[in-house]
Amino acid sequence: MKVALFPGDGIGPEVIGEAVRVLEALALPGLTLVEGDVGGIACKRHGHPLPPETLQVAHAAGAVLFGAVGDPACDGLDRALRPEQAILGLRKALGLFANLRPATMFAGLEDASALRPEVARAINLLIVRELNGDVYFGDKGIDTLTDGSRRGWDMMSYTEAEVARIAHVGFKAARGRGGRLCSVDKANVLETSQVWRDTVTAIAGEYTDVELTHMYVDNAAMQLVRNPGQFDVIVTGNLFGDILSDQASMCVGSIGLLASAALGNGTVGLYEPIHGSAPDIAGKDVANPMATILSAAMMLRHSFGLEADAARVEAAVAAALAAGIRGADLGGSHGTRAIGDAVVERLA
Ligand code: IPM
Ligand code: MG
Repeated sequence: MKVALFPGDGIGPEVIGEAVRVLEALALPGLTLVEGDVGGIACKRHGHPLPPETLQVAHAAGAVLFGAVGDPACDGLDRALRPEQAILGLRKALGLFANLRPATMFAGLEDASALRPEVARAINLLIVRELNGDVYFGDKGIDTLTDGSRRGWDMMSYTEAEVARIAHVGFKAARGRGGRLCSVDKANVLETSQVWRDTVTAIAGEYTDVELTHMYVDNAAMQLVRNPGQFDVIVTGNLFGDILSDQASMCVGSIGLLASAALGNGTVGLYEPIHGSAPDIAGKDVANPMATILSAAMMLRHSFGLEADAARVEAAVAAALAAGIRGADLGGSHGTRAIGDAVVERLA
């Protein structure tokens, strides 16, 4: 059970630190932790956001626990050298095409949601986001036009094969939950989405026990705040999934609560909070480590088959929240370290 820890930038090291304390408190036999540099810090130390030595550490591990990357000081660099390339490069290099982003309301947290409590209470959904394609990884460029002005462009595309493999993940996830899958696209405008919709529809025949619906992404964004309880599993592309998962986090209460798993056909899974590096609050002991702790729980479940330990961690987080342990993101005053303590104490 070898875990590669990639803390990264901003609040990354702080939140990873608390997740490590939780993992160590579980006293799992055979757990070893190795560290690697990613993001802006890797750029400073090695001249690249995802240096070869880090990639080697990832390939040699059973799972990667990732903090966050992003550093405003790097915004002027070539895109290939910006901190974000570390996470995009890892997703690509490890073939992590399936991103699971669960959003569930915690008991007692309804008042922290951006939605009315009676609307928020019903949230229990899973976003299955495609993670290796779309406009994220297409050709892109900035051209200078004859009048001297610039034109930026990014190629959006999905092949049937790319859609099919994520659709299967979505259908299987729905089968293991409430049996309902909502595929989100923009097929009224985009050819990419037409191929997406046709492919998902064709595969539905293999999952007659799952109820498939389709929704345009603008409507999905609206429905997510109007009546989020209607969703069970959402399957969608890379860009739409990025946007909808941030939105779902505020429906639950805070982006500091949402965990994610990035999985592929290979053996290495990557686990990370969906939030960013939050440089404005870095090093101040105010970041909420719960999203990272919950990501570690997903790692125990999906990479190491330790369902009981994963459930223990999740129950401890839920118990801490129910006891009123809240970070600044939830209107509370508990610091990063205090939240970590509270979770460790509740690892029954
Ligand atoms: C996420 C993040 C990343 C993404 C960034 C940091 C590249 O927003 O994981 O949601 O866009 O995928
Ligand atoms: Mg995002």
